[in-house]
Amino acid sequence: MDNSIIERTIEIKQKSIENLIQNETLALIVENFYAADLCDSLYIKLQKDKNSEIYTHETIEDNKLVLQNYGVNRIGLPFNSTYNTSDAELINAYYREAQVARERLRQHCYPAFTPIDKLRLILDEVFIPGASVAHFQNKKMLTGIARISSESLSYLSEIQPHFDALPLKYAEFDKQLAANIYLNTPEDGGELELWNSLDLTPLTQVPKNWREKLPPSIKIKPKKGDLIIFNCRKPHAICAFKGKERITIQVFIGYKEGMPLMLWN
Ligand SMILES: [Fe+2]
Repeated sequence: MDNSIIERTIEIKQKSIENLIQNETLALIVENFYAADLCDSLYIKLQKDKNSEIYTHETIEDNKLVLQNYGVNRIGLPFNSTYNTSDAELINAYYREAQVARERLRQHCYPAFTPIDKLRLILDEVFIPGASVAHFQNKKMLTGIARISSESLSYLSEIQPHFDALPLKYAEFDKQLAANIYLNTPEDGGELELWNSLDLTPLTQVPKNWREKLPPSIKIKPKKGDLIIFNCRKPHAICAFKGKERITIQVFIGYKEGMPLMLWN
């Protein structure tokens, strides 16, 4: 196992983002990115939030889009729920909800920054040419989804890896990264498992028993308040865990040469 491709820091710099984009590193860990007391107070607010729903992940099976349940609840409607739908109301609901959900997260964190707002501002400040809320269909996207996983179904996220890649019809990024801020982490398990393979393209159909065909993985054990950014077009999984809920705030980051980083969910 090669841990040298995991970069640890306490401060995001342009070089760290470039390392991810250029495949020099597989993941960037920013320790204590969000203060522990802010993590705790946001966790309490999210537990009381009535907008929690099942989070599904899209895969391609027999050339059809299939939404998989990995035992994760989420607060915030993800853009992947609108893929391949002809239901205009669902698409409208996504855009209508985007700013509402962003504001709701701000209310939960008030008077502190949300972890996603903090990340977006820092990326804008350190990365040339900046960072911005994405707008794929001339409308602003959601930024910041809370994902809540419980012990009982946590094995579902471990069985097989998956990858995340925005369909090219929305935007043609050179790289897609995922950023997770960990508000609560289980003591036993819950590692982020990464494989240093080639980037996958949006329509890649992954083999059955993919895990068995991949090289050895690298596991990262996040701590409360850590931010982890990784290339999510590569296979990844979340290990089963025991104990308290695992709660993260997540956002995707798209990179295209010469363009600002684009954030969305
Ligand atoms: Fe993922």
